[in-house]
This record gives sequence, C-alpha cells and structure tokens, in this order.
Amino acid sequence: MAAQTILVTGGAGYIGSHTCVQLLAAGHDVVVVDNLSNSSTVALDRVADIAGRSVAFHEVDLRDRVALAEVFDDHDVDRVVHFAGLKAVGESVEIPVAYYDNNIVGTVNLLNAMADHEVFDLVFSSSCTVYGEPEVVPITEDAPIGAVSPYGRTKLYIEELLRDAAAADKRWRTVLLRYFNPVGAHPSGTIGEDPTGIPNNLMPYAMQVAIGRLERLRVFGGDYDTPDGTCIRDYIHVVDLADAHLAALGALDRIEGCEAVNVGTGTGSSVLEVVAAASNAVGADIPHDVVDRRPGDVPCVFADTGRAESLLRWSARLDLADMCRDHWNWQRQNPAGYGS
Ligand code: NAD
Ligand code: UFG
Repeated sequence: MAAQTILVTGGAGYIGSHTCVQLLAAGHDVVVVDNLSNSSTVALDRVADIAGRSVAFHEVDLRDRVALAEVFDDHDVDRVVHFAGLKAVGESVEIPVAYYDNNIVGTVNLLNAMADHEVFDLVFSSSCTVYGEPEVVPITEDAPIGAVSPYGRTKLYIEELLRDAAAADKRWRTVLLRYFNPVGAHPSGTIGEDPTGIPNNLMPYAMQVAIGRLERLRVFGGDYDTPDGTCIRDYIHVVDLADAHLAALGALDRIEGCEAVNVGTGTGSSVLEVVAAASNAVGADIPHDVVDRRPGDVPCVFADTGRAESLLRWSARLDLADMCRDHWNWQRQNPAGYGS
C-alpha cells in the first residue's frame, strides 16, 4: 500500500502505540486522536523515539463532535484505525451506560465525521469476546456470536453497526479485527502495557509479581476440562497484532463491505504454560497458587487463522517465549509503567 495518512483513534494506548510505530516505519503519516483517559503522551514521545518521527496528536474525545470534525478538517485523512474505547469487562458490568456512551456514541460520531469528509475505509478493534463461550475450537469467524458482558456487547453492536453502514452504502469498506489475547511489548522495551491499578489480565499480573509490585499470582481454576486443568487462551504478541492492522489496511483494497477476521496465533496456551514461560523469561519462579475459578471464564478459546492468512495475507511470527521476553523487558525497564 502506498504511503497514506492514517487517523488512529486511541493511538496513545497499548495496542494503538505499537501500531503507530509500525505505521510510521512503513512510511505512513499518522494522526492520533485520544482523550488520554487510559494513556499518556509519554507513550507517543516514545513512539517518536523508536520511529524517528512523530505522529500528529490531538487530545480529543470522540464524543466531542465539533473537535473531531476539526481534526478531519486539519488533515487529509485516507484511512482510519479505530482503537479508542473502554475495555475492562468487570468495570463494564458496574457502569454499563458509561461503556455504551463511550464506545457506541464515540463510534457513531467517528463514522459521521468520516462520512462528512468522504473517508470510508476503516479497521476496527473488535474482540474474540464476541464469540462468548464457543462450541467448537479453533473458532472460525462464522461461529455464532453473542457476548456475555456489556463491554462485549458494545463490540458486538459496533460490528452490527458497521455491517449495516456497509450494506447501505457501498463506499464503506471495513475490516473487523477480532483480537484474541494481546500481550508482550515492543522489543525496545520503551512502550508496553501500563494498566492502571491492579491488573485484571494474566500477563501483566504475572509480570508485576515478578517485579515485586504484587506478591503472588492467583491461577483461577485448576479443574477445567483441559490437559492441565487451567484455561486455554490464544496469546498474541502486540507487535504481530500491530502488523495485522497494516495488513488489514492493505486488504481494504481487496474487499467489499465489511469483513470480520480473527487475529490470533492459532495456538492455545494454558495458564500454567504461561506462568512457566513467564518464569523462564524472568529467570525466577513466579510465585502462584491455584485458587477457585473466576466467574465468567471460558475454558478454552483459540483462533482459526485461515481467514487472516487468505484475506489479510498475514500470520503471527512470534511465539509465547518472545511474548514473555518482551513483556518482561518492558516491565523491567519501566517497573511502574510510564510513571517510572
Ligand atoms: P487502551 O486502553 O490501552 O487504549 C485505548 C485508548 O483509547 C486509550 O489511549 C484511551 O485513552 C483512548 N480512549 C478511550 N475512550 C476514548 C474516547 N472516547 N475518545 C478518545 N480516546 C479514547 O486499550 P488497548 O488494550 O490498546 O485496546 C485498544 C482496543 O482494542 C480497544 O477498543 C479494546 O477494546 C480492543 N481490544 C483490546 C484487547 C486487549 O486485551 N487489550 C482485546 C480485544 C480487543
Ligand atoms: N488469569 C489468572 N489469574 C489472573 C488473571 C487471569 O489465572 O490473575 C487467567 C484467567 O482466569 C484466564 C486467563 O488467565 O483463564 C486469561 O485471562 P485474562 O484476564 O488475561 O484474559 P481473558 O481471556 O479473560 O480476557 C481478555 C481481555 C478481555 C477480552 C477477552 C477476549 O481481558 O477484554 O480477552 O478478547 F474481552
């Protein structure tokens, strides 16, 4: 794909910042819109250090229609990658209206601003959470969908919204990327995931135990119907995931309408396998106890990657050892995240 101007919503966040690096490296100009509700401009400074040039940054909330229109007025945007959203499953159960407001209203405003400026090419961050509890693994994109949390439903409804928009107006071309479990960090160790408060997710929790910020990891459930009794997920290196966005932007030229694509490695790893790989990367055992199941966890989820290979011409290159090495490198260099 020739060099273009890509607008990245949520570009200061975890996956967005890694995608900005890859976009800049590929020669694109990048415009970031982020309200910094879950991120910091330090991430964008580090992106510039890695890439050797900066993104154009606008501190704007997607729900602010006037400010969003001004960003499109200021830049000749060719395509959009839409990361901005709230993403904590548990929090979404407590404050569902805030999730619908942020994620759905933000997306509707974005689509209106895009259409007003004749921009119809979009890559959207969806999630494998839209599959709920899958009946069959590996999961294909044609599996039944039905999310189980308000967060997951915002993803589901946005997918439907984008499908409806594409059905009504053939100018819309959209790739819905259904991410599996993103982990890891840029190999420089200068950008990475910086969760606020105590992490909900396995890898950041394990790494904060390793660095001494948390005492012990709890392994949620050792009695699932899996080989070692712990849940299986498809972990994907965030740099591979970032590259999938470049591939999806390129694929927009080859698709019509709206296409959903899984972004995983196709390999499942159990919680205990992740703990072992993380301990290996750290060079010391990560203390852990197997405790009760966490409500809502699905026993086994991993991706069928066939459509990513055929449609995006992309597949993951990095494995669990790479993910743990790079996540640890980031954690070690930035023990308190961007506040270090
Ligand atoms: P993140 O929180 O690090 O990044 C999201 C960014 O969006 C943040 O910088 C935040 O400040 C910004 N933002 C939120 N609401 C906004 C608004 N209304 N206006 C402008 N900016 C706003 O999260 P992430 O892990 O990088 O995830 C990016 C996207 O991928 C999200 O949509 C998330 O739901 C989706 N996703 C993430 C995962 C995961 O495990 N990390 C899995 C599946 C899908
Ligand atoms: N786990 C532990 N201990 C922890 C944290 C997690 O044992 O401290 C286990 C969980 O029980 C699960 C596995 O590690 O079996 C992975 O859990 P994560 O919380 O890291 O990831 P999930 O698969 O539950 O959820 C992630 C994102 C969601 C998203 C979902 C599907 O956090 O936002 O993937 O995309 F919806």
